[in-house]
Amino acid sequence: MAAKPQAPANVKPAFKLLPLTAEDAHRCVDIYFAAFQNPHSLACWPRVPSIRAFWEHMILDELAEPGAHWLKAVVTSPGASTNDVPDLNTAQRIAGFCKWVAPKPGQVPDTTLPQWPAEADDLEIVATDPAYQGQGAGSQILRWGTERADADDVEAYLEAAPDAVRLYEKSGFREAGRTDTYIENERVKGEWYRNLYMLRPRRDTRKGEPQR
Ligand SMILES: CC(C)(COP(=O)(O)OP(=O)(O)OC[C@H]1O[C@@H](n2cnc3c(N)ncnc32)[C@H](O)[C@@H]1OP(=O)(O)O)[C@@H](O)C(=O)NCCC(=O)NCCS
Repeated sequence: MAAKPQAPANVKPAFKLLPLTAEDAHRCVDIYFAAFQNPHSLACWPRVPSIRAFWEHMILDELAEPGAHWLKAVVTSPGASTNDVPDLNTAQRIAGFCKWVAPKPGQVPDTTLPQWPAEADDLEIVATDPAYQGQGAGSQILRWGTERADADDVEAYLEAAPDAVRLYEKSGFREAGRTDTYIENERVKGEWYRNLYMLRPRRDTRKGEPQR
């Protein structure tokens, strides 16, 4: 795991969610490659310059996608501006990022298992730099989207890597389907990988569920 960036001793770790910009794409790919160490990611995405470039271009293209909300969790201290961690440069201050996608009513979902609800908010990607994991950035990103889903009274959908299932369950997502894939190639020795498909029901249909 990478060493934790050193913040001044008097700065309590906290994160501020800001819109992601084109300048951040490079750092996001670094975070993506560092964070996703599961066999599926390792098998599909060799960490080579051409794949890096592919990811960076994809992020740049999708920044303008209608309904997409790209956010970065920026290291700060509570109630302060983002410039109060002087030891970190602009890129290092980005602890994690995500892409939430707003509902696209009327659009035919281009996925199977389970049927992707046209009315559902969708979390497409979330990753926290391993140096910052376990400090609350992921939960803050989840809260941003689930509060919005509740305000809009829509379901939310995501596909969960094993490491993230507990976080998603705590945010109200429940398993709606799963695939188990045996992954083996030149980078992965041969192991089973479980991907969960998770839905978070609309607010008024979550009766009996613990409210956050
Ligand atoms: C899943 C992920 C985004 C969570 O981000 P995060 O910033 O660490 O989230 P939080 O700090 O809010 O922690 C959320 C939970 O994960 C646990 N956690 C996070 N990182 C951890 C780590 N490195 N080791 C152990 N537990 C960890 C926390 O303890 C917390 O659980 P708790 O509330 O029961 O204590 C992050 O771990 C990650 O990027 N993982 C790799 C990429 C990935 O799988 N993304 C999700 C794809 S579906």
